This record gives sequence, C-alpha cells and structure tokens, in this order.
Amino acid sequence: MSTAGATGVAGAAISVQGVSKHYRDVVALDRVRLDIRAGEFLTLLGASGSGKSTLLNIIAGFVPATEGTIRVADRDLTRVPPQKRDLGMVFQHYALFPHMNVFDNVAFPLRRRRVRKDEVRRRVLEALDTVELAHLVERRPSELSGGQQQRVAFARAIVFHPSVLLMDEPLGALDKRLREQLQLEIKRLHRELGITFVFVTHDQQEALAMSDRIALLRDGRVVQVGEPTELYERPAERYTAEFLGESNVFVCDVRDGVCHDAPTGRMLHTAGRVPGTRADVVVRPEKLRLLPAGTEPPAASNALTATVRETIYLGSEFRSELVVDDGRVLVVRVPASEPPPTPGASVVVTWDADAAVVLPADGAANDGAANDGAANDGAGNGGAGIAATSPSAAAEPAAEISSPSTR
Ligand SMILES: Nc1ncnc2c1ncn2[C@@H]1O[C@H](COP(=O)(O)OP(=O)(O)O)[C@@H](O)[C@H]1O
Ligand SMILES: [Mg+2]
Repeated sequence: MSTAGATGVAGAAISVQGVSKHYRDVVALDRVRLDIRAGEFLTLLGASGSGKSTLLNIIAGFVPATEGTIRVADRDLTRVPPQKRDLGMVFQHYALFPHMNVFDNVAFPLRRRRVRKDEVRRRVLEALDTVELAHLVERRPSELSGGQQQRVAFARAIVFHPSVLLMDEPLGALDKRLREQLQLEIKRLHRELGITFVFVTHDQQEALAMSDRIALLRDGRVVQVGEPTELYERPAERYTAEFLGESNVFVCDVRDGVCHDAPTGRMLHTAGRVPGTRADVVVRPEKLRLLPAGTEPPAASNALTATVRETIYLGSEFRSELVVDDGRVLVVRVPASEPPPTPGASVVVTWDADAAVVLPADGAANDGAANDGAANDGAGNGGAGIAATSPSAAAEPAAEISSPSTR
C-alpha cells in the first residue's frame, strides 16, 4: 500500500468513499468516490465552485463530511481531528506567522508535537534545504518574495515527514514565470519525498504538466479520473474534452453506426461503428490539417471547405479560426515550421477518421444491442445487428468507416 521515498517516509493511499457535503441547499460534493494511490501525484482539477477545496479540506479534516468516509493508509480518519491525521497542507495564501522568522515558522509543527530541540534544528534545516532556503532562516515573511514565502510554507508542511501532502492552489498567487519554476520544484519534491501529493488547481495546463493522474470535478462530482494523456486523448464526456484543451465538436445524428453532422447531414468518418442515435464527435485543433482550396483530400478522411478568419502566432505554433461554408467556426493549430494560415484564404480542412473522438450522447454505449455492434467493429460490420437490418446504409458507409487511415 505504500512507497518509500528518499526520506524513508512512505506515501499513503487515500480512499474517499461516498463523500457528500451539503451547505444548507448547496450540494458542494455529491457522493464522491476516489481512490488515490500510495505515492502518486494526483490533481483535483475543476472550475471554480466545483468542490475541489471542499474535498481537500474534508481529507485534511478541517471540514466534516455530511456523509461518507475518508480512509488513509487503510485507517478510517473520518472522525480524527486534523492535527492527528499526519497530513501536510499548503494553501494559496502562504499562511505564515508574520511575527515569526523562517526558522520558527518551519519549526512550529515540530514544537507542537514536542520534538526534542536538537532534532527540531536538524529537521528544520533539512526541510529548508529541500526548498533551497536554508540561508534565509532569520528573515521574517514580510522580508521574502511571494515565491520564497510559498517555499517556506512547503518546508513547514513537510518538516514533520507526513505521508501525504495536500496543496490547495499553492501557485495561484504567483506570476506566470514563478509559477512555472515552482511547478518544476514541486515535481522534484514529489520525486525526492516519494509521498502522496494531492494538488488542487483550476488550471488545466498546470494539471496536465504536473500530474500522474487527474480527477476532474464538475458540480461536486468526479467526472473522470485518469492519466493526463488519457483525459486529453480519450475524454469520456464532452465536458472533459472541452475543459482540457480546445476542441471542435460536431453534434451528430447516428444512423446505422455512422455519424452525420446534425446541421448539414454530412457524413463524418470515424474509426469503428458508433452505437446509439446521437453522438458528439470531438476533433482537437492540432489534428486538423489545412490544404490549399481545390486540393483533393486523402481517401477516407473528412474534408470541409473553409475560410481563414484570424491567425495568431504562439511561438511554437499558429492558432487559427476558420469559418466553414455553413458558418460554423473551427479552431486549428499549425506547427510554426509550416506556412501561417493567411486571413481571407480559402482552404480545405481535413482530418483522419481515427483523429476524432466519438462520445455517444444518449448513453447508448450502455445499451446491449448497440454495444455488441460497437465491440465487433472493423471488418465485421455485416454481422452487427443494426447494420444487417438496413443493408442500403450498411453497404457503403460501413465499408468507409472500417478503414481508418494511419497517422
Ligand atoms: N462554508 C461554506 N458555506 C456555504 N457554501 C460553501 C461553503 N464552502 C463552499 N461552499 C460552496 O460549495 C461549492 C464548492 O466550493 P469549493 O469547494 O470552495 O469549490 P472550488 O474549490 O472548486 O472552487 C461552491 O458552490 C461554494 O459556494
Ligand atoms: Mg478552492
């Protein structure tokens, strides 16, 4: 259940079991289940008000849950007070004692635990060394920069060798450059300490950059848990796709396992049969390719004609907005090594069938019959129940969607 890091302290697993929090008529958390692995870096990601701080504070013991259980390292902590939970905590606002110098701030948790004096000194210097601040022990918080104050807060949170470190938007008050520098330091800290990190942010970029796994919260519920690449490339819901990175979404009617763009009726090539009757087809901006107007797109890829509306340069790439002939706007990202899309230019936008993520919109993925068809996709189209009952539609499109091009 645990992993030992450089300090010899083990990371603890955390199990959140059916946790709800109600404030009068506000449901801040709704029966949250989440298993955080020993030693992992897990990020709670979500929009403001989605319940991230409430969940972290319930794990820490500062806020009681309305219902549910918190277990850490297989121990039920639901009714254990915060100071007896062995969890370090860092907040967005450094929460240092202004009248104490750096040494005394960091020593505080040890003195409260009645650790011997020489041991206090050794551990405080060790913790300050970890955050590269051992030379500033005499300073008061007011004599430190924001980044330095936050490093002191980190030192104070790890000085008693907790098995879990909880952080609530710890970089939220810092400017961009300092943020990015501290992101790297927090990653290094995690690697060196080997303990479990639970990190809260509303910033999807920060979550993608730092986490072993991300739990995405929405309105007090966990929408999806997974590795950053998994959430980005295989979102389970349209909400995940739109929260993490940019997305082009086509709302589709599904007929005989094939997606048809709802406003135009145009067929969209996707990899495999699609169950149900409604689907959202999500295509990331970097998966779109632009060809000069009039170019014949590759076989079995999707193609739309469009006009470039606006292009901005982002250093490593261009980001352009395109207006499709039916008036909708698509976002495309083009590597900076390629020619910039010129505003006003007519283009052909293409993407491969397997570049699209298909999200059944009517829960059809759980429907027995339709699901059988989806499971047997590829060459076996003819054997699927729905396709067999409508041979006219099954013959052509099914052949097309069963041959996704390779990337
Ligand atoms: N002490 C409180 N009293 C009443 N409502 C609260 C309290 N704390 C949080 N809430 C509500 O619970 C929801 C979740 O809040 P919070 O956990 O702070 O979200 P986040 O940290 O994701 O921004 C919000 O609707 C918020 O207004
Ligand atoms: Mg919060």
